[in-house]
Amino acid sequence: MRGVDRRSFLKTGGALLAAGTLPVTLVEIVFAKAKAQSFTFGYISDSHITHIKGSEFVRNWDRGLIRAAGEANLMTPRPDFFLYGGDIAQLGTPEEIDHGLDLLGALRGDVRYVMGEHDYYLDLGEHWRKRLGPEYYSFDHKGVHFVVLNSILTYDKWTHGNWDSDMARMKAMARLDNPDGSPFLVGKAQREWLRKDLETVGRDTPLVVVSHSPLQKIYKGWNFWTDDAEEVQALLEPFKKVTVLYGHVHQIQYNQIGNISFHSAMATAWPWPYPSTYAQEASYLPKLTVEMNRADPFFERDATGWQFINTHTGDVDVHYLLPDNRNRVVAFDAEAGHPVDAAYQSEKSRIPPQRHY
Ligand SMILES: [Fe+2]
Ligand SMILES: [Fe+2]
Repeated sequence: MRGVDRRSFLKTGGALLAAGTLPVTLVEIVFAKAKAQSFTFGYISDSHITHIKGSEFVRNWDRGLIRAAGEANLMTPRPDFFLYGGDIAQLGTPEEIDHGLDLLGALRGDVRYVMGEHDYYLDLGEHWRKRLGPEYYSFDHKGVHFVVLNSILTYDKWTHGNWDSDMARMKAMARLDNPDGSPFLVGKAQREWLRKDLETVGRDTPLVVVSHSPLQKIYKGWNFWTDDAEEVQALLEPFKKVTVLYGHVHQIQYNQIGNISFHSAMATAWPWPYPSTYAQEASYLPKLTVEMNRADPFFERDATGWQFINTHTGDVDVHYLLPDNRNRVVAFDAEAGHPVDAAYQSEKSRIPPQRHY
């Protein structure tokens, strides 16, 4: 999609979707001539529901999720199903997970869930699994093979280390600059499961792989990093059209590695700054990514937002709508062979990197 076509898509998308600035992703998979039917699904991520005490929760994070669910219910066409991208809770307590699921219960349609590190490191996923079932699985929908992975595991020696309490472990992993954390892993057992799962899938079948952490290595200092990313990518390599959707980073990122297009989702809770604004160590933010404007801290919804993802026979266009910034389209460009940003934001309109100490 180039030039005028992109602009008309933007206009059409804007007209259809200008009603709100909902923090939800709508994913549309369109088949031009394949046997499969076109369909959409919704994708909501990173709500970080935070318990205060009793029945009190941090209202702002509740509101992001309530709004996402409410507006997702108004989408036309109605999504076939929803994916929730992980970090439903802030500190993984049953109260937070249950409250988040209550709020998501407003969604009209089935929801499939991804494990986030904030859901996991208190009880190692016990309550989450009790409520939601297996933490990795696959399913087929109208000609597309979906794989959900738990990408936020880590090394046993860290997980089962000498912690004062389960909550101490949770809090160590929950920090952005987690100096006492540990890099994420999909892990050997799950990679073996994935290898077997993909054995029966045709190489022409579009794959959508959903993880919480990026299945690529971006910024170790903040754990935007999955240590065995290359090994997972190698399993996806034989397929013609592969899209990886991930949460965790709370910002727009996109990349192309070989046959795999990567797209992040924004959060319903808050935006993270870009790693490149904090230069303690090398950032491997994908070169393709054009950073969005930095959030205005006085506007609670700035730099949160939603995306409309449109795939034509597996080539993915992502349409980002941001409350106070220009809309963006990140479209697969056949000539370039990777996603290209159709709406670069002016350097002058960005809040410049801040000094930190
Ligand atoms: Fe998150
Ligand atoms: Fe996360």
